Amino acid sequence: MQTQVEKILREAKDKIQKAETIKETETIRIEYLGKKGSITSILKGMKDLSPEEKKNVGMIVNKAREEVEQALKKKFSEVKKVELEKKLQKEKIDVTEPAVRRSVGAKHLITKVIDEITEIFMSMGFSVAEGPEVESVFNNFDALNADENHPAREPSDTFYINEDILLRTQTSPVQIRTLQKEEPPIKIISPGRCFRCDTPDATHSPMFHQVEGLLIDEGVTMADLKGTLDVFAKKMFGENVKTKFRPHHFPFTEPSAEMDMSCFKCGGSGCNVCKQSGWIEILGCGMVHPNVLTVGKIDTEKYTGFAFGMGVERIAMLKYGVEDIRYFYENDMRFISQFK
Ligand code: DAH
Repeated sequence: MQTQVEKILREAKDKIQKAETIKETETIRIEYLGKKGSITSILKGMKDLSPEEKKNVGMIVNKAREEVEQALKKKFSEVKKVELEKKLQKEKIDVTEPAVRRSVGAKHLITKVIDEITEIFMSMGFSVAEGPEVESVFNNFDALNADENHPAREPSDTFYINEDILLRTQTSPVQIRTLQKEEPPIKIISPGRCFRCDTPDATHSPMFHQVEGLLIDEGVTMADLKGTLDVFAKKMFGENVKTKFRPHHFPFTEPSAEMDMSCFKCGGSGCNVCKQSGWIEILGCGMVHPNVLTVGKIDTEKYTGFAFGMGVERIAMLKYGVEDIRYFYENDMRFISQFK
């Protein structure tokens, strides 16, 4: 018995000495001291021995077990140290290494310009209203006082879904939706996407963006319209910009006007941006036609108001020097990332 135990002890010590990892050491522990380990088995087998033998064998085996336990304990602490060392080595951070560059995204220029316009009008107390891109013919034309024979109604100009539904050609139908839903005072702008059957070229696109504006209250005059839009032009293009209003025609406003501003680049002396004229056309506007107010059941004796609409692409092209409207929709990163 003694020689058997000695042999096991020698073998175990030898293996423990050679172990290099926690895992190997643990395997050895199980092999000798685990539930079915060889030393454990001998201890278990002692129940059949005589008391005298039990005492002898017990002493020998217990001593062997203690030795193996000691050796394992020592080994465990060694291999743990080694493994920790290895791990730290592997996870070492070289603070002098060049950093990985993370590129920060940019807002699309159209979004950026809509944000700029929105912020200016919000600073003057306007809130933002929204309307759908798929609209009724009624909201897009009839309610906006467009004549039955208005040329924009032609299927060659407008995308019809059916005879009553279309892709809105302007953001003006949001005026109708707002007038029907809200009571004066009304003070909203509405940015959004519009559609027309245009062949794309440097200044046309079948999909484009507008920002609509509508203000209805008691005693609103053309002076309010001019003052508001003059502030907008100055905040958008610079304090030195001057504005002028030219008579025009829109079915939903009377009187109607187009607003020009003095060229923000040359100051009015003439350059490539203003095509040598000194002036740049930037939006359409006017006093809301009583027929439009009536659709919203608004008392035309009590309330008046003004409206305006501008092309976002046009403003973006002017302000940021974009030469072709098609750049906006090509999603070329070289274009998009210029406007961070
Ligand atoms: N809806 C017009 C267009 O697409 C722009 C416009 C002009 C809007 C005058 C207005 C306005 O609200 O008063 O050409």
